[in-house]
Amino acid sequence: MDLKSKINLESLPKHIAIIMDGNGRWAKKHGKPRVFGHRNGVKAVRDTTEAAAELGVENITLYAFSTENWNRPLLEVNALMALLVETIRGEISTLNKNNIRLKAIGDLKKLPPRSYKALMEGIESTKNNTRMNLILALNYSARWEIMNAVQNIAQKIEDKQLISANIDEKTFENELSTSGIPDPELLIRTSGESRISNFLLWQIAYSELYFTPILWPEFRRDHLYEAIIDFQNRERRFGKTSEQVAK
Ligand code: IPE
Ligand code: IPE
Ligand code: MG
Repeated sequence: MDLKSKINLESLPKHIAIIMDGNGRWAKKHGKPRVFGHRNGVKAVRDTTEAAAELGVENITLYAFSTENWNRPLLEVNALMALLVETIRGEISTLNKNNIRLKAIGDLKKLPPRSYKALMEGIESTKNNTRMNLILALNYSARWEIMNAVQNIAQKIEDKQLISANIDEKTFENELSTSGIPDPELLIRTSGESRISNFLLWQIAYSELYFTPILWPEFRRDHLYEAIIDFQNRERRFGKTSEQVAK
């Protein structure tokens, strides 16, 4: 059965966000150290990114490292940061070939200098690509992002560039790291966990949530297609009644 042909290309989500979870459990299942799971997760990133770009999805955001992930064993944190450098350096030419632009959200300045540098090089080298944005959430947490936005707004008021009466959703969104990118219509989380783990709290206000038991290193394009087909069969009501939204 060809899943791809079941997708309606006219109503694709413009933005898909993914919580890539289950690397550790996948490694354990194979009797390997957790880092083996992270390494194999890169294959899933590649296949998912390519599939999304081929379909015509405009933005894909991947949760790669949360603010809370610094609390993991140092060995694992270091391996993840090294993997980030290696992966970005290794993938830049493919991203350019596929016309995909790399972006990042999160408290990036706090990444180790080597990782930060590789990331900035990747972003710079792909900045003219137009087919799809691949947005990595790195040292990201939604509460950090929201607090950061609040501080920026307070600073603008102190600097007399803004008055409090003029703060609206638009002003606020402009201070988020996702500014300029539409909210994700579809949020996928792998590995069977049904939680958000501090990801895009503001932006997912009306996102469709899709939880799958697949562990991230096993996630492939067909799983993405399944998620999109599921999404396209939902009725998004935005507070209205079913009768109101039915065409
Ligand atoms: C997701 O897989 C990758 C990161 C959070 C960096 P995990 O490493 O969380 O895998 P599990 O949840 O322990 O299986
Ligand atoms: C969420 O996964 C963060 C990323 C995928 C980067 P975690 O594995 O860190 O989430 P929790 O701790 O199970 O909520
Ligand atoms: Mg996890």
